[in-house]
Amino acid sequence: MFVFAHLSDVHLDLGPRVLGRTRRVMDYLRGLPIDAILVTGDIADHGDAAEYEQARDELSIPAVPVLILPGNHDDRSAFTKVLRDREATGPVNLACRIGEVLFLLCDSSIPHHNEGLLEPETLAWIRARLDETEGPAFICLHHPPVALAIPLVDGIRLGSPGGLAAIVAEHPRVVAVLCGHAHTAAATTFVGRPLLVAPGVVSTARLPWTTADELTWTNAADLDDTPAVAFHVLDDNHRLTTHFRNAPAATRE
Ligand SMILES: [Fe+2]
Ligand SMILES: [Fe+2]
Repeated sequence: MFVFAHLSDVHLDLGPRVLGRTRRVMDYLRGLPIDAILVTGDIADHGDAAEYEQARDELSIPAVPVLILPGNHDDRSAFTKVLRDREATGPVNLACRIGEVLFLLCDSSIPHHNEGLLEPETLAWIRARLDETEGPAFICLHHPPVALAIPLVDGIRLGSPGGLAAIVAEHPRVVAVLCGHAHTAAATTFVGRPLLVAPGVVSTARLPWTTADELTWTNAADLDDTPAVAFHVLDDNHRLTTHFRNAPAATRE
């Protein structure tokens, strides 16, 4: 059995509110017998180097691999320099193998835009990584490739998802597609495969049918909802089960 935590949309901004929520989640995960932690983008709120230095310090647990990919709030250059200790020359894709499980951390960001896209270079990279080995694989990216019934988010989802759909359809080893960006715990399908969205650490998207308010970018997020994570459990037959859990109240100042 392989268990990993999945969180997203930390939006670290050097301020105390977000730091407190981040620590609440990481304190919950610290000490759990998990195999990895996946963070699907919007690591920094403004893409500043200092925010990535905070991310490097806070999104870290000894002996647990933390897999981090960028979102639309991230800056490829600063993200890569601080978190991967190298220079960015294009999409900052990274393949990580933990045991027999392959994680493809894909860069779906378009610099200075909120919507997403997998560039041809990234699609070719995904296909090559899936073709060169065997075993269960997760395609991880920030932008969901389908609509989630949240109109504001749906308007800035992954564009042109056909290329990714073709790759998933051709590769049964892809167990699921894992995303963030929507700031909501959500489960749907993509090309018949599970598409699982981690809740946002920084806030939770308000759903249109739970409020009489007309939702705009200024009121679309609940800042006080309890931060949460997804736990993905891959059994020995490569069947996936996902549990969503709120992080208990913080135990440190
Ligand atoms: Fe976000
Ligand atoms: Fe985002």
